[in-house]
Amino acid sequence: TDIPSAILTGHGRIAGVIGWPVEHSRSPLLHNYWLRRYGIDGAYVPLPVQPGQFELAVRGLQAAGFKGANVTIPHKEAAYALVDELDHSAKRAGAVNTLIFEKNGRIRGVSTDGSGFVASMKAAGHAPQGKALLLGAGGAARSVAAALQDAGLHVAVTNRTEARSEALAQALPGLERVAWDEWESRLGAYDLLVNTTSLGMEGGPDPLFCPSLAQASSSLIVADIVYVPLLTPLLAQAQKQGLKTAGGLGMLLHQARLGFREWFGQDPQVDEQLEAFVRQSL
Ligand code: ATR
Repeated sequence: TDIPSAILTGHGRIAGVIGWPVEHSRSPLLHNYWLRRYGIDGAYVPLPVQPGQFELAVRGLQAAGFKGANVTIPHKEAAYALVDELDHSAKRAGAVNTLIFEKNGRIRGVSTDGSGFVASMKAAGHAPQGKALLLGAGGAARSVAAALQDAGLHVAVTNRTEARSEALAQALPGLERVAWDEWESRLGAYDLLVNTTSLGMEGGPDPLFCPSLAQASSSLIVADIVYVPLLTPLLAQAQKQGLKTAGGLGMLLHQARLGFREWFGQDPQVDEQLEAFVRQSL
């Protein structure tokens, strides 16, 4: 049969994703693809856990021998508060999306979004450098901004709600702030533009979001963390102008690698086959 022996025998390694709802998560697809691809005796399961039940669930998973878990909405804050150890990425992002259950019973918390973004840019041949301008000041913005700063970039943010970019600048020293109604005219000063908001997302606040890129320098790279649709209006506009672009699918795939490596002991590759496999599920 095709059923992994980790499920049938209790041998093998198990991890999962904790969320509520969790049905929409692509993580089970991704991790089980890699498990098969590398012939690893393991499984990765969706774990629907109601709000308020996070700690109980985590203690149960630990007791049941899980290797760890990804954490998604609405449990990210609870995860940040619960872990015994925040690694550098989690401290900088102010968030935890990956739990690693250590043999001694301690839980290590990691944030993989920012490093996933940087890794996906490198894989696409767009190693980030110089000055970056981020649209948005939410959780995704903080992860990406922190990772770009750590990669040596000068990072600026602009956000509709000024108070949130102010808070972000407090958390990440060195961050530049740009007014929301001015960024389009100041775009020429940047090497990389990243949309970290839900603008342009199908079913989001403004699926047609397409700001002016008229002031962009010809070497500007435009990235979007939205991956539904794969080609957002922002990216389409950038391509029409002949600019280099990077979509959000790469970040989704690359951010998953760290957890897989920790739980299953193999650094999984992101290749075209995997991208095609995940793309058809969107
Ligand atoms: P996440 O954790 O995924 O980043 P979030 O914390 O809800 O999500 O942040 C959403 C981001 O999208 C914010 O920067 C938000 O701007 P505000 O802080 O002004 O709300 C931005 N955003 C969402 N809808 C928007 C809209 N219609 N116009 C401009 N920005 C919007």
